[in-house]
Amino acid sequence: MKIRGAVLEEIGRAKPYADSAPITISEIELDPPGPGEILVRIEAAGLCHSDLSVVDGNRVRPVPMLLGHESAGIVEQLGEGVDDVNVGDRVVMCFLPRCEECANCAEDGRLPCTPGSAANNAGVLLGDRKLLHRQTEDGSEEIYHHLGVSGFATYAVVNRASAVPVGNDVPADIAAVLGCAVLTGGGAVLNAAAPRDGDSVMIVGLGGVGMAALLTAISLGKGDVIAVDALDSKLELAREWGATDAYTPQEVAEQGIKATHVVECAGHPRAFETAFKATAVGGRTVTVGLPAPTALSEISPLTITAEARTIIGSYLGSAVPARDIPKYAQMWRDGTLPVEKLISSRITLDEINGAMDQLAAGQAIRQVIVFDKEAVQ
Ligand SMILES: NC(=O)c1ccc[n+]([C@@H]2O[C@H](COP(=O)([O-])OP(=O)(O)OC[C@H]3O[C@@H](n4cnc5c(N)ncnc54)[C@H](O)[C@@H]3O)[C@@H](O)[C@H]2O)c1
Ligand SMILES: [Zn+2]
Ligand SMILES: [Zn+2]
Repeated sequence: MKIRGAVLEEIGRAKPYADSAPITISEIELDPPGPGEILVRIEAAGLCHSDLSVVDGNRVRPVPMLLGHESAGIVEQLGEGVDDVNVGDRVVMCFLPRCEECANCAEDGRLPCTPGSAANNAGVLLGDRKLLHRQTEDGSEEIYHHLGVSGFATYAVVNRASAVPVGNDVPADIAAVLGCAVLTGGGAVLNAAAPRDGDSVMIVGLGGVGMAALLTAISLGKGDVIAVDALDSKLELAREWGATDAYTPQEVAEQGIKATHVVECAGHPRAFETAFKATAVGGRTVTVGLPAPTALSEISPLTITAEARTIIGSYLGSAVPARDIPKYAQMWRDGTLPVEKLISSRITLDEINGAMDQLAAGQAIRQVIVFDKEAVQ
């Protein structure tokens, strides 16, 4: 079938992207779902820094690639053997499928699925499936899949393992944001940091992921929740949303602010250093950010030993998405996790290059591309 989608043509074009336009919006061909796959009509999709990291080359992936991994939509067609989801169900896309057969999948979300990670790195769906093409002057050209989703498009075919039914009462924009920002930030707090009563939680980096972590930590009500970002506008918002205190990284260093559980959600080696230094004796530093593979941080190993510290890496919120996404949806319904706050703007697919500039400037929380106005809040 023909779809309309946002294809990254080249990595590393100059900013502003609104001028250099590394992403083109065009007609693409999408093959029908094969065994174990589903066709989803996309209703809404959020922009995450992990999309920008492919555009700016921080995380090199094969191009041309149809971007987008934080999406939600309606199931329109089932591939052979899919019998646990119905046509008409709203699903949240998930950016790392679980094969449920590898040793890592036996680890309850702590470790990334091995074949899922390999497929993501190769820009294909699980099982080495490539379903996106377009016509060029020389014939047909293959387009790579982004994180098993490629959700910046009117339709997507994904492996059943890349989708979690969420309940059609959850608006599509909320559902989209559950798939990456909330699953990642929320899980970094609940699954990886796991604070107990009286523990303090600090979040370093207040984008969509960090703000989701902040809202989750506030919803727990265990102890102080401290917000850290380089931008005053983000600190102001964090205070408004219920953070106990909010500081710049410089203030954290100068005033010696500490917390027992510190979650880094910035994706910068300096932010990791801030998070590490701000972790109290016996505390946990959780790192979620994805800096360039060559980026290095400086930390003192002695501190880890002498202060009995733990450093935890958390990918995908250390989550089992099929278990955790329905839990966050319920917290949203109950009013304890106000996910709608994370949506800083609603945009169209055609505005995507300029939206990447906004994201690069750290101004946005979540910019959500709306495909179906009836389906969002
Ligand atoms: N681990 C995972 O599974 C996973 C999933 C999604 C995103 N990510 C990564 O998490 C990071 C955050 O994603 P996002 O979409 O929220 O990004 P974002 O760009 O929206 O937010 C990053 C925030 O960090 C702040 N920041 C930058 N440098 C800082 C510093 N030195 N100290 C304090 N704050 C600083 C920025 O001002 C901004 O508010 C990215 O690296 C992204 O690739 C990881
Ligand atoms: Zn993401
Ligand atoms: Zn697996």
